[in-house]
Amino acid sequence: MSRFSAIRGLSGVSEEHDRQFIKTFSAVLAGLVAFTVVIIVLALIIHQREFDGEQSAARQAAVEERLKPVAGIYAGETGRAAAQEAAQAAESEQAEVAFDGSTDGEMIYGRVCAACHDSGAAGAPTLETSTWGDRLDKGRDELVASAINGLNAMPPRGGRSDLSDEQVGASVDYMLDQLED
Ligand code: HEC
Repeated sequence: MSRFSAIRGLSGVSEEHDRQFIKTFSAVLAGLVAFTVVIIVLALIIHQREFDGEQSAARQAAVEERLKPVAGIYAGETGRAAAQEAAQAAESEQAEVAFDGSTDGEMIYGRVCAACHDSGAAGAPTLETSTWGDRLDKGRDELVASAINGLNAMPPRGGRSDLSDEQVGASVDYMLDQLED
């Protein structure tokens, strides 16, 4: 073996070694790239599943709930105060007619009218026929009209402006029913 061939031989080993190294290195690189792609795809799939449509809205609400301040501060006409006012207005609109619109004359009489009419305060006619005098000649409709509009010491609708005409009528009917003919 000449010196040259020995060197050639050596360089042959080294070339072989380099090729092997490049092969392994490329394989590792390709593996890493493949791994990255898999991670990206997985992340996209999970993101799609977790943050899509309704669930995303529910999540958003849950996050907002968690981030909410513990106590509200009343600071005058701020957005919160305005919102509360609006909510109250909506509530009172629902309760616009007293007693949920019930036309139970006996109940309404008991809750509103009895305060004056049981005792006959300020000359209010009671459930005793004798206290009515000529009033009964007015007829039912006229009596209902004065109960709605008020009469002297009798406030309109007995002071409950949220009573409907019908409800006042029903309580007058109840009163008249209690009287002896
Ligand atoms: C604050 C006391 C008070 C309340 C509450 C009250 N009334 Fe009277 N009411 C009177 C008085 C006083 C009179 C007599 C008025 C007069 O003739 O001067 C009267 C009179 C009446 C009359 C006779 C009206 C007429 O034309 O002669 C009717 C009917 C009547 N009330 C119905 C009712 C009904 C129904 C209610 C309940 C929804 C009611 N009142 C609640 C005080 C009251």
